[in-house]
Amino acid sequence: MGRRARPRDPYRAGPVNATIPAPARRTPGEGRFTFTATTPLSADPALAGAAQWLRGALTPATGLPLPEGPGGVELRLVAGLGPEEYRLTATSGSVLIEATGPAGAFYGAQTLRQLLDPAAFRAGRTGDRAWSIPAVEIADAPQYGWRGCLIDVARHFLPKNDLLRYIDLLAAHKLNVLHLHLTDDQGWRLEIRKYPRLTEVGAWRRESPVGAARHQRFDGRPHGGFYSQDDIREIVSYAADRFVTIVPEIDLPGHTQAAIAAYPELGNLDERLPVRTEWGVGENVLNVADATIAFFTDVLDEVLELFPGRYVCVGGDEVPKTQWNESVPAKERIRELGLHDADELQSWLMRHFTDYLLARGRSPLGWDELLEGGLPPGVTVAAWRGDKCAVLAVRAGHDVVVSPFSETYLDFRQADGDQEPVPIGSVTSLRAVHAFDPVPGGLGDEERGRILGAQAALWTEHIDSPRLLDYMAFPRLAAFAEAMWSGARDFEDFLARLAVHERRLDALGVEYRPAGGPHPWQRRPDAPGHPRTRAEIDAQLARWTSSLRL
Ligand code: ACM
Repeated sequence: MGRRARPRDPYRAGPVNATIPAPARRTPGEGRFTFTATTPLSADPALAGAAQWLRGALTPATGLPLPEGPGGVELRLVAGLGPEEYRLTATSGSVLIEATGPAGAFYGAQTLRQLLDPAAFRAGRTGDRAWSIPAVEIADAPQYGWRGCLIDVARHFLPKNDLLRYIDLLAAHKLNVLHLHLTDDQGWRLEIRKYPRLTEVGAWRRESPVGAARHQRFDGRPHGGFYSQDDIREIVSYAADRFVTIVPEIDLPGHTQAAIAAYPELGNLDERLPVRTEWGVGENVLNVADATIAFFTDVLDEVLELFPGRYVCVGGDEVPKTQWNESVPAKERIRELGLHDADELQSWLMRHFTDYLLARGRSPLGWDELLEGGLPPGVTVAAWRGDKCAVLAVRAGHDVVVSPFSETYLDFRQADGDQEPVPIGSVTSLRAVHAFDPVPGGLGDEERGRILGAQAALWTEHIDSPRLLDYMAFPRLAAFAEAMWSGARDFEDFLARLAVHERRLDALGVEYRPAGGPHPWQRRPDAPGHPRTRAEIDAQLARWTSSLRL
């Protein structure tokens, strides 16, 4: 049939050392543990969720019933480990996963699945095979508590089932935060009962750009979609079962044209605006009227009902001040409040929402532009414009999650060359992502403690389908997960493990970028990009942050 031979299977070549992320410590043992139809699985009641997940993951793929009972695989509650820490001890006679909490047991179970043949990642059986894992002792815990990924479901909607699949993919890589960018100029994706037009009007746009903004190409095709409140409840609960916390983002006061299209009284102009059909930073921002503040307080009331996690992102990025500088009510507010300028007006406005969240026991997250008008008290800063912003926020006494756009924005192209689908930004290679260190240089020990972790970001202006999302996310998200979990630095070793991991991704149906570049169907010759060099990106960063003093 002309099929090419598969490359030699490294999994079968010798003892497995192919888990991704690499564990903190791993000691190979002698022999293998072999699963049979009677191999039992048991768990301490406190860890029953992880056992249930493991059975649910393995049984369809392997046909192993894993009946309840002692011996075989045991999830045991022990004292003294961290909340996400686990120990996995496999001998020829048993598999023991020890944890102090359910998250640790879940990560132990995820590791166990990776020790099996990659076919264990399929959703059904592919034939009889012997299921076994190598004897090993693994002692493992993450370096950072915030190991996140942002998915922008606003620019291109990600249907619910695809989002659930991404939650499984994050969990399989021991990532634990999904930052959902739910609202932007080009789409509002969250049903709000009190304001139905947010989704009736704001969830779809007339057409979308094809390629980078400068080419002014449009597809003439409506785009839309939103999550109902029941969809969100389902997503949140599905994520919680996999120890993924969802951080919802309602981006304020910029990136709000979809909301203004739905409710024109939220904007600064008398004209009616459509849901935006261009990419890039838009001028249309919220006005600063009491009624607008009340509107978004109502929105946040519903957000808090739906999302039980501690953090809620209220945006704050890329807010052009043009309209406020020309608006009589905005200028009036600045004068009344004794503020210096529109940057301070933004911080004043944002403080309503951050104080609102703090008063309800939640923690506000906001982008680092909030530094410009003064950080609202208690805000955790999402530092995307480089180390300088992260360091300034830490020194101002704030917790920080870093997501430097030149290192962790996975919408940036993966390699040079015109074959990459919609090449934008500079090159963010697999090697560079693997080498990523979330802690900016120059911080003291105590200051370092304020870096909660990091998140990769999948902005989707140029990612218009789940297939392309796979291409941009993987394998870089696997490298990011390793950088965050254990920080293993041997890239050649990562590549050797990736050869096995790609078979897991194949089994899961993930259309990752092949090492040699895109398959023909993964290219986008119809969508011209705007590739830049790293020097250009760094110069842009320096311009953006030039008003900030370290
Ligand atoms: C961002 O990339 N505007 C946070």
